[in-house]
Amino acid sequence: MKEIAVVGTGYVGLVTAAGFADLGNRVIALDVDKRKIEGLNKGRMPIYEPGLEEMIARNVAAQRLFFVTSYPQALKNTEFVFIAVGTPEGVDGEADLKYVRSAAISIAKAMIAPLIVINKSTVPVGTGDWVADIISSEQETPIPFAVVSCPEFLREGSALLDFMNPFRTVLGSTDLDAAEKVARLHLPLRAPIMITNLRTAEMIKYASNAFLATRISFINEIANICEELGADVKEVASGMGYDSRIGPHFLDAGLGYGGSCFPKDVKALAHMAAEKGRHPQLLRAVMDINLDRRRLLIERTEKLLGSVDGKTIGLLGLTFKPNTDDIREAPALDLARLLAEKGARIRAYDPQGMSRAKQAMPEIEMAENAYELARDCDALLVCTDWNEFKHLDLARIRNAMRCPVIVDGRNIYDPKRMAQAGFHYRGVGRGYGPDGEPENSSPTRD
Ligand SMILES: NC(=O)c1ccc[n+]([C@@H]2O[C@H](COP(=O)([O-])OP(=O)(O)OC[C@H]3O[C@@H](n4cnc5c(N)ncnc54)[C@H](O)[C@@H]3O)[C@@H](O)[C@H]2O)c1
Repeated sequence: MKEIAVVGTGYVGLVTAAGFADLGNRVIALDVDKRKIEGLNKGRMPIYEPGLEEMIARNVAAQRLFFVTSYPQALKNTEFVFIAVGTPEGVDGEADLKYVRSAAISIAKAMIAPLIVINKSTVPVGTGDWVADIISSEQETPIPFAVVSCPEFLREGSALLDFMNPFRTVLGSTDLDAAEKVARLHLPLRAPIMITNLRTAEMIKYASNAFLATRISFINEIANICEELGADVKEVASGMGYDSRIGPHFLDAGLGYGGSCFPKDVKALAHMAAEKGRHPQLLRAVMDINLDRRRLLIERTEKLLGSVDGKTIGLLGLTFKPNTDDIREAPALDLARLLAEKGARIRAYDPQGMSRAKQAMPEIEMAENAYELARDCDALLVCTDWNEFKHLDLARIRNAMRCPVIVDGRNIYDPKRMAQAGFHYRGVGRGYGPDGEPENSSPTRD
């Protein structure tokens, strides 16, 4: 059993803290947000992540997991401190490192014994060295420490599963002993462990996210071509995915990527490249294609309704993906803004994202469920592929709507079934001919 401190109790920090506690370590999780820590100490979750509340409760009860706001308290007995603070987008697309900087200064001032500082936040290449410089210059008396990069690859919505079953653990450091000690913390996870230098580990994170974002933009470009040529992108993606050189993941055409990671990480990588005089043309295309997806959905809705001015549009889903309450960079909110600018009244329903979305955009009217949302809507736009949306009573939805129009930004419905159910339905890349009608549905026997 080790004692571990985790700085930052957001999506990554809380999962890391709960996960290491569940593996039998004593974990002190720290945040500067006093309300968050007070809430956690009363059993209130600041975020929704499946299974997290139970895991935290179990480990708090076992006295393996503690929540504090004081750095000296968090670092009193620990040899390991994970930094898991936010690295949001800065003004020019670069990562804003102000939280990392302030965490590094607080660690330097509070440490009383040798420490391994492990950076889990996604940070520009070279940040590990910068953190080491900050700690050295801010320490009141010199105490040895090492910096290890340990990028996080978890996905919101399946974060605990990902923590417990990572594809790999990447560790980067100039200090091999420190990296090996951190590797030992991860041994119970039984995943491949790769030790590199600091900058390579930091780059692996950006390259991974940029690659996954590229796959999404790639399939969205294919979806556009499918629409022109009468092919069905869902089947194209399945047909591609069976090839083990390609694989099935991140090939869902639709509204494009969002969330707190892909948009800012692709932008930050492009920024790093441009700063060094490189022209990151593929990354720029990935971002352009992604932004176009929002416009495409709006154009599609306008085409079906004539105009959205004065119309009531219902958004099915607000979060950037299912099984989370995270609305950061969610395509649904971009759609809401664009539609509101064009004079539409926006209503929405989401199983987890409504309270955060209401704070971000108070003018969105929230509904209690999908059926209540459908009431008097001129069109429904599917923005998030929550499972509960896949099995709705379509007759009930159609009867509630003023106009039976569904624009499916996540391709969760079958175009044929939707036509049979009486909807004017448009998905994305689903074999529509130039006249907007489904051209080539799957073959039938007759
Ligand atoms: N969310 C994800 O799915 C995900 C996945 C992989 C990597 N990441 C990366 O992990 C990092 C954290 O992301 P997140 O989504 O958990 O962020 P988040 O915004 O949910 O949480 C960050 C937390 O850090 C706290 N904090 C800020 N400054 C602090 C300080 N000086 N001391 C202590 N606490 C401080 C904030 O109060 C907040 O609770 C980011 O760099 C992100 O890019 C996120």
